Formats: sequence, C-alpha cells, structure tokens
Amino acid sequence: MAEVRLQKAMADAGVASRRASERLILEGRVRVNGTVVRELGTKVRGDDAIEVDGTLIEREERKVYYLFYKPRGVISAVSDDKGRRVVTDYFTEERNRIYPIGRLDYDTSGILLLTNDGRLANLLMHPRYKVEKTYVAKVEGMVQNDDLKRLCKGVRMKDGHYSARARAKVLSSDRAKNHSIVSLTIHEGRNHQVKNMFEAIGHPVMKLKRETYDFLTLQGLSSGQYRELSNDEVKALYDHAQKNSRLK
Ligand code: URA
Repeated sequence: MAEVRLQKAMADAGVASRRASERLILEGRVRVNGTVVRELGTKVRGDDAIEVDGTLIEREERKVYYLFYKPRGVISAVSDDKGRRVVTDYFTEERNRIYPIGRLDYDTSGILLLTNDGRLANLLMHPRYKVEKTYVAKVEGMVQNDDLKRLCKGVRMKDGHYSARARAKVLSSDRAKNHSIVSLTIHEGRNHQVKNMFEAIGHPVMKLKRETYDFLTLQGLSSGQYRELSNDEVKALYDHAQKNSRLK
C-alpha cells in the first residue's frame, strides 16, 4: 500500500492546505492510530486512522489524471512478468495507484491517459463512449484513394469483425522507399485495431503513433513526458462520455 507524508494525506482529504496541515501537526493536534504525531516527515498508509482535534478524517484518495506520451517499447500496464518497462515506471513521484485507460501496443507510441479514477476509466473504455482517436501510421506500399475509401467505409479484419466508419488521408508517400504515411481517425478500440485495418487493405503497418485522444493532443510533450490534465479537461471528458452514453 502506498505511503504518503501525513500533511499530504491531510491535504488530499481536504482538511487544510499542506502548509496549514503542517502547523496542525506541529501544534500536536493530529493523532495517527491514536498517538499524537509531531514529526512532519511521518509517513502514513491508506488504512491509518488520522484524527484532527479528535475527529477522524475521511481518507478519500485524491483523483489524479495524466496525459502521457508513451514511447515505443513500453508496456501499457502497471507491471510486467517479463520485467519489461511499463508505463507507470515513468511516474516515480506518484503515490496514488494509477493505471492506463485502455492500452497502446508495446511498439506503438503516443497519447495515453492514466488515472486512479475508476469511474472515468470505465466510462471512456466503454464502447458506447465513442471517443475519437487519430493515429498516424507508416505503412508498406503506396496507399491509393480506393484503399482510403475502404478504410473509411469499414473493412473485414482478420478477427472477423468489420471496422466502423473512419476517416483516413494520406499525409505523404515515398515511391522509392515504397511506403506511405497515413492518418486514420477511428472511435473503436479493439486489440490491434489499426494494424488489423491496414492489414485488411494489404498495407501492413511499419510504425504507429496515436496523436490525439478526443480533444487532447501531445502538444508540448516529448516522448516519455507527461502532464496533469486540467480540471476543465477532466470535466470535458466526463461531459463527452455522459453525453455520448445518452445517445443510444
Ligand atoms: N491499434 C493498434 O493496432 N495498435 C495500437 O496500439 C492502438 C490501436
């Protein structure tokens, strides 16, 4: 179980700011599991009982939301039995138990959200919430207009499913090297969806990056970096999810 400093636990529970919580501790007004604590470095766990002036505080975990630029060669998980690098390895300072919302393949880079807010994670991962995601793929061969039309209408993938309508455009192509760079916007999230869609039209993916997630982009971040979402961004994600789930 994660340990945090007592003043942080108090601030996260909304008792007072971290500075004001420190004063309460120094004044001897705070007990942990029945014992007065005056040391500011004291660490507490989620199941420790904290009292301020004799009143037990409610220890709700602070909800945190991150936008992460996942590098290639990292697993979208919180642990890996083969010891490979996982996305949460980048969040060494984070004490809350965060996890990725959905996943990107090991060899896919790009935008990935992480949170400890199960409610938002469930909403966004539910197929009913048609969150739009734009991928940029480097694919084998010269992608033609007919290929784009097929992608946009929906293709039969190797798992037997048909992809839903999508938007696609060729950003560039290199005849000498025989590859194309294609942007594809979808709102589904099946395993290897983008790779399977391109495979279905005979243009296997060589490299894949997710550039957007709903209205969120990677702007300002380099690979391996992250930022917290603003309150407005979190609210907008909730609003979109709730609006979309009312559509059906
Ligand atoms: N589609 C894929 O094929 N891979 C990803 O990582 C994401 C979408």
